[in-house]
Amino acid sequence: MHFPTYRPRRLRRTETIRAMVRETSLDANDLIYPMFVEFGTGVRREVSSMPGVFNISLDQLPAEIDELKSLGIPAVILFGIPETKDEAGTGAYAEDGIVQQAIRAIKAHAPEFYVITDVCMCEYTSHGHCGALDDDGCVINDVTLELLAQTAVSHAEAGADMVAPSDMMDGRVAAIRAALDAEGFSDVPIMAYSAKYASAYYGPFRDAADSTPAFGDRRGYQMDPANGEEALRETALDIDEGADIVMVKPALAYMDIIRRVKDEFGYPTCAYNVSGEYAMVKAAAANGWIDEKRVVLETLLGFKRAGADLIITYHAKDAARWLKEG
Ligand code: PBG
Ligand code: ZN
Repeated sequence: MHFPTYRPRRLRRTETIRAMVRETSLDANDLIYPMFVEFGTGVRREVSSMPGVFNISLDQLPAEIDELKSLGIPAVILFGIPETKDEAGTGAYAEDGIVQQAIRAIKAHAPEFYVITDVCMCEYTSHGHCGALDDDGCVINDVTLELLAQTAVSHAEAGADMVAPSDMMDGRVAAIRAALDAEGFSDVPIMAYSAKYASAYYGPFRDAADSTPAFGDRRGYQMDPANGEEALRETALDIDEGADIVMVKPALAYMDIIRRVKDEFGYPTCAYNVSGEYAMVKAAAANGWIDEKRVVLETLLGFKRAGADLIITYHAKDAARWLKEG
């Protein structure tokens, strides 16, 4: 295979032949839209560091779901902002908690629309960490497992189609699987945030969800950005414990991890295109420094090429609209 026998440009001459030999495709069906829900009515507040992303109240959900459906986006992942936070994060598993109510509101409006819930404690704890703390301010792993399991079950009881633990405690997939099964939810799948890194790219999300840790950071439970082999071990553990879908997060700086996880396990793999990645694109686009549409579609296609089957992205609505336009 060498020049002049092989001329790669022969298959690039027209859009027809380019489309015929195209290896990867991006479809609205691949996209999951993250939503931040809070109490109150008539709330639609733009997140300052995430232009185009809003914190919304429960009454806004039906219109929001209609819009997503019309764009061909099949699913949301819900994040809740509770009215009050406490040491134990009780709002995470309250029967009438914000996410539980949001699930019910969506299901009452559009029963077939797919609702995934983020399962974690950090939006609900007064200290902002992802679990229960000991006296030294360290997250206690095994006590947290019970809180997470209870949270996942409360989401399933409210009608969630899938739960997605993002806490990075050891053994949480097994704990959640056992609790769901015991309560009659053996058909509810788990999408595990398997390789979730302690990343600077979560900054804007923490503005939106008001979940910045009051002290310290998350490096005692989220992964070290330097580690790739460990991502495979984390993913293997989650699969052993019953994960149905595995996730790599963030996506852009971890494309190698997406590829390795896909190659190693062949599992349905989700890439989380996180808040900081979104914010950077929006900032550059607002300055006229990049062509937003082309950059976003190229980035999302890149995640697919790297091995992602699913992409959680704040760009979902725009991307679906652009894909429609062709
Ligand atoms: C909660 C959670 C976070 C994100 C998703 N779930 C924040 C964090 O771990 O600090 C980040 C998502 C994003 O940045 O878009 N554990
Ligand atoms: Zn958390």
